[in-house]
Amino acid sequence: MSLPILSNSRQPSASPLRPASTRTFDNPIAPVDGVHPVLHEGRVAVITGAGSGIGRAAAVELAKIGMKLAIADVNEAGLQQTAKEVAAIIGEPNVIAVPTDVSKFESVAEFRDKIYDKWGEVAVLMNNAGIGPRGSSWDGLDNWHKVFDVNVFGVVNVQQAFVPSLLAQENPAMIINTGSKQGITNPPGNAAYNASKAAVKSLTEGLAHELRNIPHANVTAHLFIPGWTFTGMTGGGGIAEKPAGAWTAQETVLYMLDKVREGQFYVLVPDNETRPQVDQLRVMWAAGDVAEGRPALSRWHKDYKALFEEYMRDALAQME
Ligand SMILES: NC(=O)c1ccc[n+]([C@@H]2O[C@H](COP(=O)([O-])OP(=O)(O)OC[C@H]3O[C@@H](n4cnc5c(N)ncnc54)[C@H](O)[C@@H]3O)[C@@H](O)[C@H]2O)c1
Repeated sequence: MSLPILSNSRQPSASPLRPASTRTFDNPIAPVDGVHPVLHEGRVAVITGAGSGIGRAAAVELAKIGMKLAIADVNEAGLQQTAKEVAAIIGEPNVIAVPTDVSKFESVAEFRDKIYDKWGEVAVLMNNAGIGPRGSSWDGLDNWHKVFDVNVFGVVNVQQAFVPSLLAQENPAMIINTGSKQGITNPPGNAAYNASKAAVKSLTEGLAHELRNIPHANVTAHLFIPGWTFTGMTGGGGIAEKPAGAWTAQETVLYMLDKVREGQFYVLVPDNETRPQVDQLRVMWAAGDVAEGRPALSRWHKDYKALFEEYMRDALAQME
């Protein structure tokens, strides 16, 4: 199985605040002779929340490149369905499906032990399980606990269970944590989910920094930030058809895999409604609230709406 040949250094793109830099950054886990050492046939991919949506699509796409799959979910029916789909691609002996609750460390540790007992290594560790029940700032306390238990402690549990083993193994590995644009630009509507995904951004940045400062460590971390993707989570209200603005889970996963292959840390994924330049500017505006002392979430503040719209219009015109 051969993968596209990629350079092992990348040039950061221009931002609305400065021109493109000539400085390059190295991809610490770069392809060798066109073959990526992590996203590679015969190696092991671990995916949580693989019983549906993005997790299932990731399992299928990684099986297509010949990876063995260790998949986990609390939803046993969904998990078994993914296991069936993946086994049809890669063969049953190359699939481990373990009902797992990522919010419980013991459950995650059992999952890890099964993988290392059978295969002795992990190449891709994808922290994807997530939930989004609503919790506003002074309502829905139970949901706040549930969301943080899964979206934040689920990731922390997996990191605590697997990272020591990843560091001890000889083969390189990558950790892909699933964040959200809602954890960066913080749109009003679900404070609990937004706060949990802001925590995932923060803890993944910390992880990447810690990993790159370990001499000779060959484990990288990546923050996967899906765009609007049609899945169980977003189509859960019984919508049978993908809305035009959303991407399919497969589109989102393929985009993400291309970027992590290139060594990108922030994988900000577009969709049919939001192109990359728009995301870039929204992120800049959110950071500008802090840097320029505007009110919180000024993008949605009645006195700043016109200014935000003008900023988007002018900056997009300049970028085109
Ligand atoms: N769909 C989108 O537009 C979108 C956008 C941004 C981020 N995300 C993130 O992508 C990830 C995948 O979401 P999706 O859209 O595919 O949703 P989904 O509901 O289709 O899939 C999430 C999966 O996680 C599983 N899960 C929930 N709690 C779990 C637990 N305690 N232990 C193990 N598994 C558990 C669910 O059973 C489900 O199978 C989530 O982290 C979500 O926050 C999705």
